[in-house]
Amino acid sequence: GLISNLEKKQRVTEKLAEQVGNGDVIGVGSGSTSFLAVQAISEKIKQQGIEITAIPTSKEVSQTCAALGIPVTSLMNKRPDWAFDGADEVDPDYNLIKGRGGAMFAEKLVMASADKSYILVDESKFVSRLGEKFPVPVEVDPRAVNLVEIRLYELGAANIKLRSAAGKDGPVITEAGNFILDVRFQTIQESLEKELSAIPGVIETGLFIHYPVEVISL
Ligand code: A5P
Repeated sequence: GLISNLEKKQRVTEKLAEQVGNGDVIGVGSGSTSFLAVQAISEKIKQQGIEITAIPTSKEVSQTCAALGIPVTSLMNKRPDWAFDGADEVDPDYNLIKGRGGAMFAEKLVMASADKSYILVDESKFVSRLGEKFPVPVEVDPRAVNLVEIRLYELGAANIKLRSAAGKDGPVITEAGNFILDVRFQTIQESLEKELSAIPGVIETGLFIHYPVEVISL
């Protein structure tokens, strides 16, 4: 198109920066869109002499905050006034799939702790049904992988892949020391998030059903 994807993401992050107020404790999501949003927020707070505190959801975005001089705290110390994050898929009811970057455990803790989260997306993220493009990432304790796979098939999984990545031998290890299973389902019902969480050994999933989100998009 005429406007590049990067330009679209930048416009979205500028809209987000308008929400920032002095003294805000802000939950900061992970991924490329959140990275751009932190930069936009950093510009605004420098220009206007505003002070904020960030609650980062990954080491990567912690590092970004540190590099930009944004003070960070954790959920052990503070509750976020609000949060922002990206998403891999957004359905018409604003349910989400997240976790392409593997940070969905911390992202869900932050989103569940905040009264409101802004979800920053370009239109490529909108789907009519969750699972159209992305599998559901399921973070699993390594000892539970065999059990969880059996239970996932019972819940209708069509395909399960243990996540690996270029640049590292063996499976991806999350910040909490777990594996990620990328799971394709035939259909995703709203009850699936809770059904997955009920499996012993499942730490968290990338399904975000009925969270208090406001979608900012172009
Ligand atoms: C990180 O684990 C994810 O949940 C990201 O928030 C999600 O994958 C969106 O990433 P992009 O902003 O890079 O598309």
